[in-house]
Amino acid sequence: MNDFAYLSENDIYLDSACQSLRPQPVIDALNNYYTKHNSCGERVKYQWGRETDEKVEATRAKLLKYLKLSPRKYFVSFTLNTTYGLNLLLSQINIAAAGIKTIVTSDIEHNSPFLSTISCAKRNNLPRKVITRNADGSLPLADIPKNALVVVNCASNIDGRLLINIKDVVKAVHKSGGYIIIDAAQAMAHSSDILHKTEADAICFSAHKMYAPSLGGIIIRRDFAKLIDVNFIGGGMVDDVDKETFLLSKDNPEHAYTQFESGLQAWGEIIALGAAIDWLNSRTKADKENLEHCEKKLFDFLKGQKHLHLINKTPASTMSFYVDKKEVGFDSHTLGAALADEGIMARTGYFCVHYYLDHVKHYPPLIRFSLGYHTRESDIDKVIDILKKI
Ligand SMILES: Cc1ncc(COP(=O)(O)O)c(C=O)c1O
Repeated sequence: MNDFAYLSENDIYLDSACQSLRPQPVIDALNNYYTKHNSCGERVKYQWGRETDEKVEATRAKLLKYLKLSPRKYFVSFTLNTTYGLNLLLSQINIAAAGIKTIVTSDIEHNSPFLSTISCAKRNNLPRKVITRNADGSLPLADIPKNALVVVNCASNIDGRLLINIKDVVKAVHKSGGYIIIDAAQAMAHSSDILHKTEADAICFSAHKMYAPSLGGIIIRRDFAKLIDVNFIGGGMVDDVDKETFLLSKDNPEHAYTQFESGLQAWGEIIALGAAIDWLNSRTKADKENLEHCEKKLFDFLKGQKHLHLINKTPASTMSFYVDKKEVGFDSHTLGAALADEGIMARTGYFCVHYYLDHVKHYPPLIRFSLGYHTRESDIDKVIDILKKI
């Protein structure tokens, strides 16, 4: 069955790195919540609420299983998105208790870790180090200072480059007395393997980039969570309140996840994320091969064009390139608009990676094609055809 049957032949959606298209079972799960058991989680005793509770709990368990992490060591909290999760952690971490001396990030980061590490360093009056990643995506271990709080992506939103030495990085950071938070926004859909059994201190992600509704999550080590103060407070995380004091449910290990969940949560979206994980787990060899085939076909074409300056060294579901106005007489924004006129939905600009793309590389604005399991070979053929004509 085609789970993207709602997509017309003329709609060529190549913006999955921003938000994936949602497959029908995910849309059905969300609709099912709204039409069959619309209810508040973790508070109500009636049957609808019990069904919501069961499914929300199942999503937390599915996420840990998806990354092969133990519920004894980790818990899952829901947030708005990756940016929000990173900011919650970086704005509330108890730097003194953690013994952190330097804030570290890398050069190829999205603005969300890049900016939140700038503000964390400033607020705590700490030095901040931006490490240059190797061309293969790895982080040079020798560059990691002692007692650092490292915040880096494990998959880039420019070209899908992976933090291929992630396991060594995590070990090195821990060995030198530091902590590591992974921005997994681009990894969860197509590169989640890299996170399997990777014992980072926290992993932030966006469900909307993994075929689920708009939602975010923090997967956090229980011991690291104790170093995060709770200043963003209220609603569902509270067990008891007296005139001047309160008791938080996070103090009960079974409800530790409430630490970052102030107020009513997006229950339907959380449940539909569970459906998205089931759906991702059920992708067949043929589905994966089709995606890889489309990636390779597009990569081979882009690589072979004199005037298309491709950033990717290898095919990936996310590929970026630029055209030079001096060479062809128009820029990537104009090219993006011309593609849009043909039904091709791609991104133009700097994709929130201003520091690296604009200030380090001095590239002109770029175009990004990001593919997904909905991508058909005919989409790629049309893109190639139109680009050739242009
Ligand atoms: C690598 C990376 N990190 C963080 C983000 C921020 O995600 P969100 O806008 O969902 O918070 C993105 C979004 O594109 C991203 O690609």
